Amino acid sequence: MNVTLIYFSQTGNTRCVAEAMAEVFREAGHVTRTISLKRASPQDVVEGDLLGIGTSCFSSHAPTPIKAFLENLPPLENKRAFVFPTSDGVFTNVPCTISLCNPIRVWETNAFGAIAA
Ligand SMILES: Cc1cc2nc3c(=O)[nH]c(=O)nc-3n(C[C@H](O)[C@H](O)[C@H](O)COP(=O)(O)O)c2cc1C
Repeated sequence: MNVTLIYFSQTGNTRCVAEAMAEVFREAGHVTRTISLKRASPQDVVEGDLLGIGTSCFSSHAPTPIKAFLENLPPLENKRAFVFPTSDGVFTNVPCTISLCNPIRVWETNAFGAIAA
């Protein structure tokens, strides 16, 4: 399987989670790319068998850059895709705001737990 992980990360937590996740996919035999949101294109979303989108939580919501990126993509409910938000622990509205931008399945992740693992 070809896996693409696109992440928005300002202080490195979500990038760390994406890279750790990529290692797990690679160890399981899947070709996996991690791409910073700054460099990601709609073509990166289309390619691959599984798409993961990582984002931090700002003020209980998904940050504007990731919302804008998702809103400009076609609906992804028919693509195998998921979102992995990171936060300090209280990410109340991130899954909801992500779902409003694009109907991608959301996985809830605590960045510090993921890094510790
Ligand atoms: C301006 C700002 C607002 C934040 N708001 C929240 C919040 O409401 N809830 C929360 O749990 N974490 C909050 N955080 C913490 C980040 O979501 C968390 O540290 C995240 O893992 C950062 O990801 P990054 O290192 O990939 O940028 C906030 C961080 C910043 C800088």
